[in-house]
Amino acid sequence: MQHKQMFNPVARELEMVEGNLKQNINSGVDVLNQASMHLIKAGGKRLRPAFVLLAARFFMDSLEEIIPMATALELTHLATLVHDDVIDNSTLRRGTYTVKHQWGNRVSINAGNYIFARALALSASYNRKDILEVLADASMRICEGEIYQMMSSYNVNVGLKNYLRRIERKTALLISVSCKLGAMLGNAPQEQVRALELYGYYLGMAFQVTDDILDFVADEEVLGKPTGSDVKQGVITLPAIYALHHSPYKIELKRLLASPIICAENSDQILEIILDSDGIEYAYFITEHFARKARKQLDYLPDRPVKETLYEIADFISARDY
Ligand code: IPE
Ligand code: IPE
Ligand code: MG
Ligand code: MG
Repeated sequence: MQHKQMFNPVARELEMVEGNLKQNINSGVDVLNQASMHLIKAGGKRLRPAFVLLAARFFMDSLEEIIPMATALELTHLATLVHDDVIDNSTLRRGTYTVKHQWGNRVSINAGNYIFARALALSASYNRKDILEVLADASMRICEGEIYQMMSSYNVNVGLKNYLRRIERKTALLISVSCKLGAMLGNAPQEQVRALELYGYYLGMAFQVTDDILDFVADEEVLGKPTGSDVKQGVITLPAIYALHHSPYKIELKRLLASPIICAENSDQILEIILDSDGIEYAYFITEHFARKARKQLDYLPDRPVKETLYEIADFISARDY
């Protein structure tokens, strides 16, 4: 199933988010406008706004007042992507050139900040301190995650714990917060806010493990961004960690991955060693483990049609190829 179909219960509202995204980005400064609009127009899955809306759907019939929050979550995500492509020196995103590639570092940094500030303005419109605190905390964590990742690149001794800490911060928490904010705005009871927060958390973990698998196995066309980029940058993700422990060539792999120069020159061989280990299978196993934990949280939520959608998303996350 394609993700768009899964979002059917909030399709009309997601259309409104689209309009809102474009409207909010509108700056009088031309280059800022173009750079910010570039990736919005290119698409993307709109997973985070969908989660805000779907979570709120449990508790509300009309989701009109949720639209600005859903828009803010996509903008926050977008800001991190614009900056991430500078950090990762990436040329492709959402099937088109990155802002970094097209406009360079200086415009990217400003565009990312501008988009993030727009997200803050939208969130502030709710006049709720608790909402701002939740969003601010997730935004700080993303920076921590990106820094942890930077600090552990080419470190062949990193283990599972380091990896999980990184992906929790850089990805899972924003997805968790998307679900949580939808529930909070729907005035959900405390335990149900928590269940949705945890659902998003576990799903976010599964989502990033899958993203890391796709970096090894996806079709670049379908994925819309470069593959093999983690290894080329010495970012040691779950399949690599597995291979570093279990591959018959683990000593060689350690040598190749430990130095930026050797790593860049031997990326094909590194990829081969990792693909020949059971690292991908192992990572899929971990994804499934997190998806199962996410599904379990749904037990605490009321039986509404949208619950079925959240089950479907949990299935999609580990089976996706884009
Ligand atoms: C990409 O997120 C960055 C990660 C956290 C893995 P998505 O895969 O949700 O990107 P878009 O929004 O669909 O482009
Ligand atoms: C992106 O992580 C996470 C954030 C945007 C904070 P990655 O670097 O793994 O994501 P892609 O592969 O570029 O989308
Ligand atoms: Mg990155
Ligand atoms: Mg990246």
